Amino acid sequence: MNTIEFANTGVEVSQMCLGTMMFGDRCDEAESARILDTAVDHGVTFVDTAAAYVGGETEKILGRIIKGKRDKLFIGTKVTKNVDPDWITQSLDESLERMQLEHVDLFMIHWPRQNMAIAPMMEALNKAVEAGKTRYIGCCNFPAWLLAHCNAVAASNGWAQFVNNQIPYNLFERGAEVEVLPQAAATNIAITTYRSLALGLLAGKYKPGEPLPEDSRGQTDERVPLWLDKYSDALKGFNQFAADRDLHPAQLAATWVRHSPGVAAPIVGVSSERQLHASLKAFDVELSAEEYKHLTDLFAATAVQEESGGNFAPLRRTFDLVTA
Ligand SMILES: NC(=O)c1ccc[n+]([C@@H]2O[C@H](COP(=O)([O-])OP(=O)(O)OC[C@H]3O[C@@H](n4cnc5c(N)ncnc54)[C@H](OP(=O)(O)O)[C@@H]3O)[C@@H](O)[C@H]2O)c1
Repeated sequence: MNTIEFANTGVEVSQMCLGTMMFGDRCDEAESARILDTAVDHGVTFVDTAAAYVGGETEKILGRIIKGKRDKLFIGTKVTKNVDPDWITQSLDESLERMQLEHVDLFMIHWPRQNMAIAPMMEALNKAVEAGKTRYIGCCNFPAWLLAHCNAVAASNGWAQFVNNQIPYNLFERGAEVEVLPQAAATNIAITTYRSLALGLLAGKYKPGEPLPEDSRGQTDERVPLWLDKYSDALKGFNQFAADRDLHPAQLAATWVRHSPGVAAPIVGVSSERQLHASLKAFDVELSAEEYKHLTDLFAATAVQEESGGNFAPLRRTFDLVTA
């Protein structure tokens, strides 16, 4: 497994970040433990979780299954609900209790909020670092301007700054190319990407024109049939390209993200050990410049303003949202 330096921290983490959102959801604790053990056996050290996953159950499972391995791991979790200082402190304390940990390695703001007060939020995060409850702080789903503003406020007060931004990014969700990825490259922000497999659409799980598999997220997530319809031709080309190179589509999708400028570590979400084996190989596959371009052009995705996952429209409508 390749390793990367995580932003400017001097800390080496595996290039693959294991996503745990399905732990306690689509996979039970025993399967979650198998996934984690196999990932660690293959050199994965970077693990992503969140207080919000399965109402805290994911963190509880993670805490139990990392016993004896904690020292090898770089664990990131996220605040739930809101970004008020008291809540930031409480949310982190609750996460630590659920995972039975003294500290996490990375503590992230999960989503920007309307009317969020930046200085109190950054001060609370800095206190968490000073208290030794987290080594670093980061954010998810932040547009570039907001991340820059937060870090400017932190810098002017001598507080810890965000070292990463976790964003949705895959072959057809490419809004981050407008500003988030260039900002990351210019200022050494570690970008971790979720939905790297587009919920399984880029894992060969769904075939255009065929019914959605019964035991799949497509049964409950309305984006799956929408995207399947919208990108049907491109998906056929993508699956064919994977077959021609003798790759599993999940490998090809994660490989493409891994090769993208500005991306530090793709987060790979799996719901079984079998899926993990397929995705792990993505970190050994190399793409030539021609292959990367061919895949990039396949989806003809326009890079539009989707920095907040396309789900936080107010951030795109106005800048009048923050109080320094
Ligand atoms: N910061 C944020 O706001 C945020 C938001 C979402 C996720 N995340 C993080 O990112 C991680 C990944 O997110 P995600 O799960 O939504 O996206 P994803 O990685 O694009 O999709 C993962 C899904 O793809 C399918 N899959 C994976 N490998 C496969 C294989 N080899 N063959 C067939 N299907 C395969 C599985 O679907 P089935 O379960 O249907 O089999 C799996 O649940 C999460 O675990 C979480 O840590 C962060």
